[in-house]
Amino acid sequence: MGTSEQQTAAEPLAGRVVVVTGASSGLGAQMSAALARAGARVVLAARREERLRALARELGGEAIACDIADAGERRRLIETAVERCGRLDGLVNNAGLSRPGPASRESMDDVRRMFELNLVAPFELCQLAARAMRDRDGGGRAILNVASIAAFAALEPMPQAGYAISKEGLVALTRELASQWGRHGIRVNALAPGFFASEMTDGLIDSEGDGPDWLRDLPLGRIGRPGELDGAAVFLLSEAASYVTGHVLAVDGGLLTRS
Ligand SMILES: NC(=O)c1ccc[n+]([C@@H]2O[C@H](COP(=O)([O-])OP(=O)(O)OC[C@H]3O[C@@H](n4cnc5c(N)ncnc54)[C@H](OP(=O)(O)O)[C@@H]3O)[C@@H](O)[C@H]2O)c1
Repeated sequence: MGTSEQQTAAEPLAGRVVVVTGASSGLGAQMSAALARAGARVVLAARREERLRALARELGGEAIACDIADAGERRRLIETAVERCGRLDGLVNNAGLSRPGPASRESMDDVRRMFELNLVAPFELCQLAARAMRDRDGGGRAILNVASIAAFAALEPMPQAGYAISKEGLVALTRELASQWGRHGIRVNALAPGFFASEMTDGLIDSEGDGPDWLRDLPLGRIGRPGELDGAAVFLLSEAASYVTGHVLAVDGGLLTRS
């Protein structure tokens, strides 16, 4: 059954079930709240169960604690989401790991961890989610991968080769899956955030959302504020973007104009 008749301008994701990885903090928690406000039933995934449960209660969603670096846990996540909600319409591959540092000293163990979490896990979750989505008719099936401006620009004050390669791989994955799965009615897009305060950027961006001069030297002159990814995420998952696939939307205050 299609769900488009239930959707309104205020609730463009009404009736949709969307899994969000990395929902226990930062951008994932913020986007989950925005998707819920847009009418989606959100399935929150990450390792820290208490945080997930608290957010799920607040948003009226589901919490599934899991470590998506583990292939068995990835399968359990998608299977449990479908069991509990009866369907799957969307996936936000947001969980990620960064380990900045000069390439000459990056540990290959860290690089492998970033590849597993930032690239292999999203790829397999896309496969699993697409299989679950293909089991039903109707529109509105969409995947959103959270990449990074690091896929497009080297930031000299913050070297991060392993992270950049993993995110560039995620952009390539987005393009490839969009091309392969469009005919199956599944759109695949990506976000490329600039800099936002989160656990990942702790130590770089302070609690006031301020950071070093090089981070503010942007066309919009500031670091991203909480919630400034929300509109882009809702748009790309909703029917407002029904003819958009394979796109990477930079939400970066104009940072990439300098690359
Ligand atoms: N903040 C920025 O400026 C920025 C810029 C560009 C791109 N991004 C991207 O945005 C995404 C979100 O990052 P963030 O800034 O919000 O950082 P964050 O607060 O550190 O969030 C990372 C999330 O990933 C989850 N996670 C980590 N390892 C996991 C695992 N093995 N299994 C399941 N979940 C796991 C964490 O939850 P648990 O610890 O509970 O598992 C957490 O919810 C990442 O992909 C990041 O690369 C962020």
